Amino acid sequence: MGDHSDGTPTTSDAVAKAGHGEVEKFQDPGLPPHRLRLADTDPRAAKRAERQVAILFAISIVGTLVFFFAYFGIRLDSTIGTLRLQNLFLGLGTAFAMLGIGVAIVHWAKTLMPDHEVSEERHVVRTEDDRQVAVKIVDDIIEETGIKRRPLIRNTLIGALALTPFPAIVLFRDLGPLPGNSLRHTMWDKGVRLVRDPTGTPIKATDVTNGSAFHVIPDGLNELTEGKLNEKAKSVVLLMRLNPDELHPSQGREDWAYNGIVAYSKICTHVGCPVALYEQQTHHLLCPCHQSTFDLTQECKVIFGPANRPLPQLPITVDNEGYLVAQSDFHEPVGPSFWERG
Ligand code: FES
Repeated sequence: MGDHSDGTPTTSDAVAKAGHGEVEKFQDPGLPPHRLRLADTDPRAAKRAERQVAILFAISIVGTLVFFFAYFGIRLDSTIGTLRLQNLFLGLGTAFAMLGIGVAIVHWAKTLMPDHEVSEERHVVRTEDDRQVAVKIVDDIIEETGIKRRPLIRNTLIGALALTPFPAIVLFRDLGPLPGNSLRHTMWDKGVRLVRDPTGTPIKATDVTNGSAFHVIPDGLNELTEGKLNEKAKSVVLLMRLNPDELHPSQGREDWAYNGIVAYSKICTHVGCPVALYEQQTHHLLCPCHQSTFDLTQECKVIFGPANRPLPQLPITVDNEGYLVAQSDFHEPVGPSFWERG
């Protein structure tokens, strides 16, 4: 049972022996013989590889510069074409900046850095001697990269690495102003006319009939440059007219409405969706995102949903020509309230 018919031991024999404490011996095949690369034997090939690595680092530098050109050089207008063009060059620039560095380092390692295979026993680093050995190993690695002997590679590497973080920095800038004080002030101010969005038509009090609702922005907002368009998001208000008897203003807010016409921030105080639905019969404003409901007759108090404070009211009146104007900015920050409530 333990032998084949020709007398050689079976697998079950080997397992049985191992099970009786015999140490199984095997031959360490060792590392395959080291093969020299072209750059190891031919100085011209090494020089050529060095130039190739430098060119790849240079491509990375060019990619970063293309990114900056797209970011600062392509002016966005109201067309989708310029936006697409900018996005295209931002993407291409970033791709070449990253790929250039990655491919250059791989090519450098494969063609110029020493490729001798070594094996080393693992051990616990405890003594000062061990630390010295570790420092020596790091020094040897730096020496073996040849970075000290190849200034072309060193300089292009430094250039590529120095420029690479900058695209990330300018992209962080696009995240907008830090939350907090940025929502304390909007473009509304004393005497600023309320105009329709997007036509910019001023609104007379007589234009606002009972039950109507308007999307309103401050006069002049449509002429803002692209860099200030986020002002629009902060300043949009909803304008509605109720029977004055249905309004119940609190002390100090008695004159914030004009003949039953009231204006409230359109930005939901939950997480900032635009409040978009006006129920004429109940005088409720609804946010479509999570169904927060605000009661116009109670200064937009929250009567349902996750928002935890009323919509800020814009005090309004009329000017000499009968156009609706703001009395001031909002008296509290607009938008979500979670980051700046003291
Ligand atoms: S954002 Fe309006 S309810 Fe959530």
